[in-house]
Amino acid sequence: MSITTFDTAGTREATPVASGRLELDTAALEAAKRSLEKGAVTPSYGPWREDIITLLNGALATEIVCTLRYKRHYFTAKGLASPKIAEEFLVHANEETAHGDMLAERIVQLGGEPDFAPTTLTSRSHADYDESLDLQAMIRANLIAERVAIEAYGQMIKLIGDKDSTTRRILESILAQEQEHADELSDWLTP
Ligand SMILES: [Fe+2]
Ligand SMILES: [Fe+2]
Repeated sequence: MSITTFDTAGTREATPVASGRLELDTAALEAAKRSLEKGAVTPSYGPWREDIITLLNGALATEIVCTLRYKRHYFTAKGLASPKIAEEFLVHANEETAHGDMLAERIVQLGGEPDFAPTTLTSRSHADYDESLDLQAMIRANLIAERVAIEAYGQMIKLIGDKDSTTRRILESILAQEQEHADELSDWLTP
């Protein structure tokens, strides 16, 4: 049995009383029939929706800065001795853009607004932009940024836990690709 109360907006006000059984919260199912303006956001999001949107906007800013850094490196490194590495920077740039798009889409599904404001991007990003001219310095800067992204996504996945399984799956798929990026970069880094 669950006891849940809702305000007029259909937002959960009290946590269900634990019955010790695996039962659905029927009051929350009823509440899901109301507040249609909330789209995909149902009462089980509880108070976490805004925090999750804030986390996703931090990740979105990071992905945009990572896209810009990789593009800068791609065009700068093209004339250098390693066109293969330059091409890989472009592949990473496009993958970071795709990550940003996934995050922006999820933010909108959660009823939030994706923040693409250019003036605050670098202060909101977890990872840094970089203007190195030397190929090894570029690889090092990208590896640092990937490691920051891996740490941030790992923390977000732990924080979200079972509060929003769709967002968690998106973050897990992005994390797996950031780990591949870091792996490739560390192979190119000369000790
Ligand atoms: Fe990314
Ligand atoms: Fe990456």
